[in-house]
Amino acid sequence: MSNNLLKGKKGIIFGALDENSIAWKTALKVNEQGGEFVLTNAPVAMRMGSINDLSKQTNSLVIPADATRIEDLENLIEKTLNHFNNKIDFVLHSIGMSVNVRKGKHYTDLNHDWLAKGWDVSAVSFHKLLQSLYKMDAMNEWGSIVALSYMAAQRVFPNYNDMADNKAYLESIARSFGYFFGKEKKVRVNTISQSPTPTTAGKGVTGFDGFINYAEKMSPLGNASADECADYTITLFSDFTKKVTLQNLFHDGGFSNVGVSQEIIDIISNKS
Ligand SMILES: NC(=O)c1ccc[n+]([C@@H]2O[C@H](COP(=O)([O-])OP(=O)(O)OC[C@H]3O[C@@H](n4cnc5c(N)ncnc54)[C@H](O)[C@@H]3O)[C@@H](O)[C@H]2O)c1
Repeated sequence: MSNNLLKGKKGIIFGALDENSIAWKTALKVNEQGGEFVLTNAPVAMRMGSINDLSKQTNSLVIPADATRIEDLENLIEKTLNHFNNKIDFVLHSIGMSVNVRKGKHYTDLNHDWLAKGWDVSAVSFHKLLQSLYKMDAMNEWGSIVALSYMAAQRVFPNYNDMADNKAYLESIARSFGYFFGKEKKVRVNTISQSPTPTTAGKGVTGFDGFINYAEKMSPLGNASADECADYTITLFSDFTKKVTLQNLFHDGGFSNVGVSQEIIDIISNKS
């Protein structure tokens, strides 16, 4: 159902790899709400994924960019501004990758070159993106920039590995850069801390099935799906959240504020 919440708004969506991706679902919902956007992903992901199907479906341009390369980001932003002949209103950073997670390296035995690579992709790329948008004065006033995070930034989830540290850094960048973006350009910057979600990145975490089932049993409203995350992101891109900035917003069915649920107590007391 469309309320045209994003009618007239233009933006950039990073990270739609396949139809399970949170960015993919968000692109569909933005399109449904009347927003227009450029889709982007790393050149290597373009070959693996199916972004061209999404671009046809949403009538949007695809411009490849490795989010760790400033020259790629500047090229993407410049081409987007030319394409719309206007500044932009929203950006979704939906990017994450850890080489240590991929290769099954334990947190107590990390390869620090791989750590640096994952940190660059998952966290520093957000600073590079914000800095490029800021310097190129690419955002309209009251624009909105959102990145996706996970609660391992605040609490321990043993298998989340070095991604926990990357998310803590990402959330900090949202606050630190968001201050200047707010002051100088009236642009808001937030992170959404999403429930575990069955995507390529999500399923790469060791023990993901246990992880997602546990969160489902702990959350009073159950886990938030990728579709629901997309809905929430729409609200943050809309004009109804103009004064929300520098926040890490939990979108997790209530998980983050529950100590323990009765369902979990019953399971560990062998009552169910
Ligand atoms: N799936 C979950 O359980 C979950 C939970 C909370 C937060 N998140 C976060 O949501 C975001 C999206 O992940 P997803 O779950 O949709 O998985 P996904 O695998 O579909 O998306 C990750 C994306 O990152 C892109 N990417 C990797 N390296 C890149 C680079 N150098 N330049 C540009 N793009 C690059 C990939 O190509 C892919 O499109 C990530 O930040 C992830 O950490 C996911």
